[in-house]
Amino acid sequence: MARYGPAEVEALRQQAESDPDGFWLDLAKRLDWYRPPTKAGDWSYNEDDFHIEWYADGQLNLSVNCLDRQLDARGDKVALIFEADEPGTGRSLTYREIYEETCRFANLLKSYDIGRGDRVMIYMPMIPEAAAAMLACARIGAVHSVCFGGFSPESLAGRISDCDACAVITADEGVRGGKIIPLKLNVDEALKESPVPTCIVVTRTGNDVPMTEGRDVLYSAVREALSTECEPEVMNAEDPLFILYTSGSTGKPKGVVHTTGGYAVWAATTFDWIFQPQASDIFWCTADVGWITGHTYVVYGPLMNGATSIMFDGVPNYPDFGRFWETVDRLGVTIFYTAPTAIRALEREGDDWVTRYSRESIRLLGTVGEPINPDAWEWYWRVVGGGRVPIVDTWWQTETGAALISPLPGSTPMKPGSATQPLPGIHAILVDEHGKELEGAVSGNLCLTTSWPGQMRTVWGDHKRFFDTYFTTYRGRYFTGDGCRRDEDGYYWITGRVDDVINVSGHRVGSAEVESSLVSHPLVAEAAVVGYPHDIKGSAVYAFVTLNAGEEGTDAVRQELIKEVRHDIGGLAAPEKIHFTPALPKTRSGKIMRRILRKIAEGATDGFGDTSTLADPSVVDALLAGRQ
Ligand code: PRX
Repeated sequence: MARYGPAEVEALRQQAESDPDGFWLDLAKRLDWYRPPTKAGDWSYNEDDFHIEWYADGQLNLSVNCLDRQLDARGDKVALIFEADEPGTGRSLTYREIYEETCRFANLLKSYDIGRGDRVMIYMPMIPEAAAAMLACARIGAVHSVCFGGFSPESLAGRISDCDACAVITADEGVRGGKIIPLKLNVDEALKESPVPTCIVVTRTGNDVPMTEGRDVLYSAVREALSTECEPEVMNAEDPLFILYTSGSTGKPKGVVHTTGGYAVWAATTFDWIFQPQASDIFWCTADVGWITGHTYVVYGPLMNGATSIMFDGVPNYPDFGRFWETVDRLGVTIFYTAPTAIRALEREGDDWVTRYSRESIRLLGTVGEPINPDAWEWYWRVVGGGRVPIVDTWWQTETGAALISPLPGSTPMKPGSATQPLPGIHAILVDEHGKELEGAVSGNLCLTTSWPGQMRTVWGDHKRFFDTYFTTYRGRYFTGDGCRRDEDGYYWITGRVDDVINVSGHRVGSAEVESSLVSHPLVAEAAVVGYPHDIKGSAVYAFVTLNAGEEGTDAVRQELIKEVRHDIGGLAAPEKIHFTPALPKTRSGKIMRRILRKIAEGATDGFGDTSTLADPSVVDALLAGRQ
């Protein structure tokens, strides 16, 4: 039976509208506070009075809510299952074990004088020590910033220097899809550019890696001597908990800052509402902790709810395309949450990879990260779920901390491809390009009119950028950057980004970042990057490149440029297509007309709309002629 059936959900919605402060304060009661908050939200999206605070007079510690609090009732329950790349070679940690590991880590950090407010960069595989490292930071009040292991040393260095990290926690190597990922070597590379005094290295493969005397410490060498108890810091609700870098439409990735109390309440609440965990559940969110989904629904949300959460360090196609379902059967997974891109990739390989496994333990499926096309949804429902379990399509963003639009299983009727309706307390609207609110069944730009506890609080080191990015497009509203259609039943259908962010396999790639990487290559004069629809990735990166006069756009140059982007950002930003062109379509004032580039990338040969404002309309013909 659903704990939040239609009547309970209706009651929540009604309370959220009639008594918002009471509603939000009630949600906070699910946590342990040193000092329970007496104030809910205090915020204004207007420029003259811009501020966002939640539970401001509350005090808590998030690691206590994830660990200490669970010890009495479920100290011996498995908290984390590490599912390693090689099936069956992982291990499990109980709540007591992860508690002790976290305390050890926390004590190690403290021994380096790391404490409240200090920033710690985490660059690790999906091993339990990654969760322990995050929780250890939370325990001592340090601010963690996890960088996905697939990002390049260059990207890591940029993040380390942006947040002025005082330590890096990494592993010797990672292993994914049978391949070694040289994490420590990457860190060494990054630290040449952005040095830190301390680098903690956890053993994953045990292969030899270079260690720098005085800076690097091998965790396994000091672990035994570290105490398994560590007094938690009493944190204020608005103290920063973590920084997570994400790509926007301009400039370098932004350091999205989440604070302790509000993030914790919203992560714990939404995990409970959406997944309705039962004591015996085995919850598997396939995301990496390098992304917000991994923060909220691999580590913090499940642990605050006393659930058993899987940390998956592999890929969906290793050792073969049955990996997910073999693992589901072996571990008895009851809730499975993944990205549409993985579903599409697996669908293509045929039903047999799925149906040869029983999957009978699954009671709930979920998706996140990008729009799911109805065809992939149907396949997920019919083949993976055997037509018997609900699917929760959860819409949210790094900035929102946790889900905002999602069905609640058992009370929200599903529609394939729709994230359905805003959660209780969330006020979503659609606006036209002038910011006018649109009513009824209509398409528009998705905004939120009121704050929620898990909302990001600032861009690290650049509060103005926070305001300018999200609150100036439509004054007084938070603009998500997404386009959306609302149907006659009030259901929301996210159509994708309407800004210059490209959603590649559910991960954000900023056009400007890729462009700046491309133009840093000595052969390149100019570059413009757009997204185009891709069968598996959802969107892929399409780069229009103008080389310096006299240079020829050969395949070798293409490979060079791809290498450049991999070096500067990481593999996920690598252009799928590079289109050499003698010129880019620009207005007379020199602005690149991306609208035209998007059309060309989509494969259009006409219908470019009004091109009369182009400085040189013949550019369009040249572009079409140069298409691969
Ligand atoms: O475009 C939306 C898409 O992913 C963007 C947020 O990306 P990121 O911050 O990396 O966080 C991803 C994981 C929460 C959104 O602006 N997106 C996310 N979930 C969905 C989605 N698009 C459609 N449906 C979803 N369920």
